[in-house]
Amino acid sequence: MALFDATSSPTGKSYMTTEQRVALVTGGAGGIGREITRGLLAHGYIVYLTSRHADTAERAAARLTAETSAGTPLPSVLDVTEEESLVGLIERVAQRHGRLDVLVNNAGVYLEAPHRQPASPTLAQEQSVAMVRESLETNLLGAYRLTQLAAPLMQRHRFGRVVNVSSGSGQLADMGGGDVGYRLSKAALNALTRVFAAELADSGILVNALCPGWVQSDVGGPAAPRTPAEGADTAIWLATLPDDGPTGGFFRHRAPIAW
Ligand SMILES: NC(=O)c1ccc[n+]([C@@H]2O[C@H](COP(=O)([O-])OP(=O)(O)OC[C@H]3O[C@@H](n4cnc5c(N)ncnc54)[C@H](OP(=O)(O)O)[C@@H]3O)[C@@H](O)[C@H]2O)c1
Repeated sequence: MALFDATSSPTGKSYMTTEQRVALVTGGAGGIGREITRGLLAHGYIVYLTSRHADTAERAAARLTAETSAGTPLPSVLDVTEEESLVGLIERVAQRHGRLDVLVNNAGVYLEAPHRQPASPTLAQEQSVAMVRESLETNLLGAYRLTQLAAPLMQRHRFGRVVNVSSGSGQLADMGGGDVGYRLSKAALNALTRVFAAELADSGILVNALCPGWVQSDVGGPAAPRTPAEGADTAIWLATLPDDGPTGGFFRHRAPIAW
């Protein structure tokens, strides 16, 4: 059952609707997320730039504002593993704008990354269930819950774009060993993409997943060949698809790839 209906926010309050399109990017203060935020600002969206830390969100928003003439993102605190945080932010978006047009589920952790300290086991035989659970909580369940909360706001206007920033590490067609928590979380995020795309078919809401390639960031590490802006390109494209755009797809470099 939806947490709130088409005319009220999660706490049941009524709200006004603004005309400008509204986007929310999780993990928007750094890496690929910051570049997705920059791209959506350039497309004319009101963009919620979120981080787990208020000062990080505010600094990133100030920096983007100084670097671009496209507008000012709205810095917001969001931890996708915290129910109160998720409900609170959607509530504020509903109250302030009465709409949410784009949700980019970009927040993610790669706990088995080779450049991460302290190093974590990566093999399925060695990795702890606690670490796998932490990967699933952020990379899968955070996106699940936020999409659940966002969908009614999108359905209100029969318009929405849900973009799940996944990874080739979650591709079943190319599944290998190692990085077990990360692989499981991204494979499940891909499955979630198909489930929501099927359930929201014919509602004006397009739901897609992408692999950004190997990108310099905290997740990708310093040796990656692609810039965050290059990594953000396909996500921005999916977030701004026309009404007859694809849904239920998995993309890299704006082209479909195997699941
Ligand atoms: N870089 C690559 O090569 C690569 C390849 C394939 C897929 N990806 C995916 O791309 C996405 C973005 O990663 P990135 O490369 O840009 O790395 P990044 O700079 O580390 O970005 C990850 C973001 O996730 C946020 N985050 C982590 N846990 C969170 C939580 N519990 N709640 C809310 N936000 C949380 C962090 O935000 P705060 O610390 O500010 O809260 C951080 O900004 C991830 O989903 C990643 O798996 C990256």
